[in-house]
Amino acid sequence: MKPRGDHNIRICLGTACYVKRVEESLNKIKDTLKIDVGDVTEDRKFSLETVRCLGACGLAPVMVIDEETYGAVTPKKVLEIIKEYAGEAAVSNKR
Ligand code: FES
Repeated sequence: MKPRGDHNIRICLGTACYVKRVEESLNKIKDTLKIDVGDVTEDRKFSLETVRCLGACGLAPVMVIDEETYGAVTPKKVLEIIKEYAGEAAVSNKR
């Protein structure tokens, strides 16, 4: 069993999500958190997994963090969501 972070991120690589370019968002997460699929960040805050269809294809591309589902994600959107989980919302919303 692989260790999990405080927040487990699951990215759907099923067909519906794949054709809607979910891979761009996945790459953004990997770059931002500096981890690969199956890894946990050094501070153990996040872990990253991929799955085959989360059963929410109508919302594709889909990301789930813990039990929360996010639809129509883009690289920009996943970054914003992850920052919120990291407690850095104040930084990203700087005026
Ligand atoms: S293919 Fe992604 S939710 Fe079904």
